Amino acid sequence: MAEKLISGDVYFPAEETVANSHVKDWNALNKYALENYEKFWSERASELEWFQPWEKIIEDEDKPFYKWFVGAKTNIVHNCLDRHVKTPNRNKLALIWEGENGESKTYSYFALHRETVKFANVLKSLGVKKGDRVTIYMGRSPEIVMAMLACARIGAIHSVVYGGFSVEALHERIEDSQSRVLIVQDGAYQRGKIVPLKDIADEALQRAATVEHVLVVKRTGHQINMESGRDMWYHELATLPIATQKCPPEEMDAEDPLFILYTSGTTGKPKAILHTHGGYMVGTYTTLKYVFDIKEEDRYWCAADPGWITGHSYIVYGPLLNGTTSFMYEGAPNYPYPNRWWQMIERYGINILYTAPTAIRGLMRWGNAWVTRHDLSSLRLLGSVGEPINPEAWKWYYDVVGRGKCPIMDTWWQTETGMFMITPMPSVPLKPGSGTRPFPGLLMDVLDEEGKSVKNNEEGFLVIKNPWPAMIRTIYGDPDRYVQQYWSRFPGSYLTGDSARRDDDGYIWIIGRVDDVIKVSGYRLGTAEIESALVSHPYVVEAAAIGLPHEVKGNAIHTFVILKYGVEKTEELKEELKKHVGHEVGPIAKPEHVEFVDSLPKTRSGKIMRRVLKAKALGIDPGNLSTLED
Ligand code: PRX
Repeated sequence: MAEKLISGDVYFPAEETVANSHVKDWNALNKYALENYEKFWSERASELEWFQPWEKIIEDEDKPFYKWFVGAKTNIVHNCLDRHVKTPNRNKLALIWEGENGESKTYSYFALHRETVKFANVLKSLGVKKGDRVTIYMGRSPEIVMAMLACARIGAIHSVVYGGFSVEALHERIEDSQSRVLIVQDGAYQRGKIVPLKDIADEALQRAATVEHVLVVKRTGHQINMESGRDMWYHELATLPIATQKCPPEEMDAEDPLFILYTSGTTGKPKAILHTHGGYMVGTYTTLKYVFDIKEEDRYWCAADPGWITGHSYIVYGPLLNGTTSFMYEGAPNYPYPNRWWQMIERYGINILYTAPTAIRGLMRWGNAWVTRHDLSSLRLLGSVGEPINPEAWKWYYDVVGRGKCPIMDTWWQTETGMFMITPMPSVPLKPGSGTRPFPGLLMDVLDEEGKSVKNNEEGFLVIKNPWPAMIRTIYGDPDRYVQQYWSRFPGSYLTGDSARRDDDGYIWIIGRVDDVIKVSGYRLGTAEIESALVSHPYVVEAAAIGLPHEVKGNAIHTFVILKYGVEKTEELKEELKKHVGHEVGPIAKPEHVEFVDSLPKTRSGKIMRRVLKAKALGIDPGNLSTLED
């Protein structure tokens, strides 16, 4: 029944894989979803529980401010936890967690429900209510899952800041969201050391005035400062009688905000992407079920961080909505040795592994023996996300990790899309390096400068032409920017910011970002964030950042810096500037390279032409220079 594909290197699924998967005939499902788009999604939504049904599936009167499941009432946490607790699934493991120091914990659905209720009561006791923003700055711990679910349960909007971000990045996000409560861990283990999350938060809070309460979750137990009247230990509040009270999930409108998550954009400060209870729930539930083909007995591991959209959708919400067992690991993949991941897959019998190309390339560098000495026969499916996967890494992942038996789901999506958008399913023929085709029912296209579809195999702007349930609803606090950023370049189409081409089989190949976003190890960073961190150093007048290809990270950050008059250009200063960016934005943003320059190429209106810097660094033709000032 395999499809006939006409171009490229194709990996066809095994007959057994097709026979056992939820979606056996992708073409039939796609046809159905295209012809019955709203019905397709309402059927998916009906697999979940609603306190009140919807009156309308999609409302597009005020587009691009689309609404989904209009009039319906639900709470995503009800579907993640309460729904399962009513069934024999209550005793099934929801979460298996391993700390970097070898500690391990497990939570059944019943236990995760109990702990979430406790956490929600503690938040309520601090005065948190529906619509309040709560910033969460933690490591990969079971408590981050509870903290997120607790917010959603009482209708508060969580804003998770990745634990690898640092002082200024955290400050900016707290201030923009106007959070009154911050949930933080004392620290997290990473590569045998402690990441001092609470110390970083203390410094950020000196700059941010909105926070009244800091709830501190104990993980490392190292010495931290507790400011009296502001800081409270979670474990102390959790033992108070108030914590064990009943706490039914707040009845939320399908369109009520669930969370905001900051991500880097073209210019200026990070944008708060807003997602909602109803559509996001249906989108993440359905895509995870179909793409990772979730089965009753699965143990699923998404190795991302909860602080990024991958973690929100496919560590926290998607897996719990599907009632599956998730595995979470706190630390670094090569700690203490490069076989840590493979050891855990063997120990816990993981069936599905979902990670990023940068991690695959990093693990590949250590050699096959670290992998092959472990029994990885439990693995059934593999996944990749965050940046294009180069065919060499794809094949290594397929042959060595997957033993030639596990299809790779290369999923393309974004913080803004909330759910997988271009992705295979296990029954779909694969081509290494392509995420195959849009998820059933989605209309995507590749356009030229004028907005016309380009021919097959030509490069253009990747756009999405119909609304989807888990789509971004707005940029929190800045609806104009939402319209401007995503819907103004090609009216009626959502601009992804990526360039792509489509081959003769309709398979899409992502080329990369066409804006000032740099993908470093799959992390999304804006040139503006790195540049403003550099300029905040007393010796720096101006700075430009670009991404250049890097073997493991995909891209590495290179910076060009103009120093204040009279400051000596030394190697020590270069190191100091790298450290400064690490301290302000986070270790992931540390430049690989700092170059001192006397001027930067600019347009006549004063915009830095990063494309010129990039071309020069790569020794290629910079293209049209007509707008260059000098
Ligand atoms: O450039 C694309 C790249 O990651 C961007 C979105 O980044 P972020 O919002 O941080 O979300 C990452 C995780 C969903 C996209 O615009 N990207 C994501 N997945 C892929 C990818 N590029 C190629 N292939 C992918 N599978």
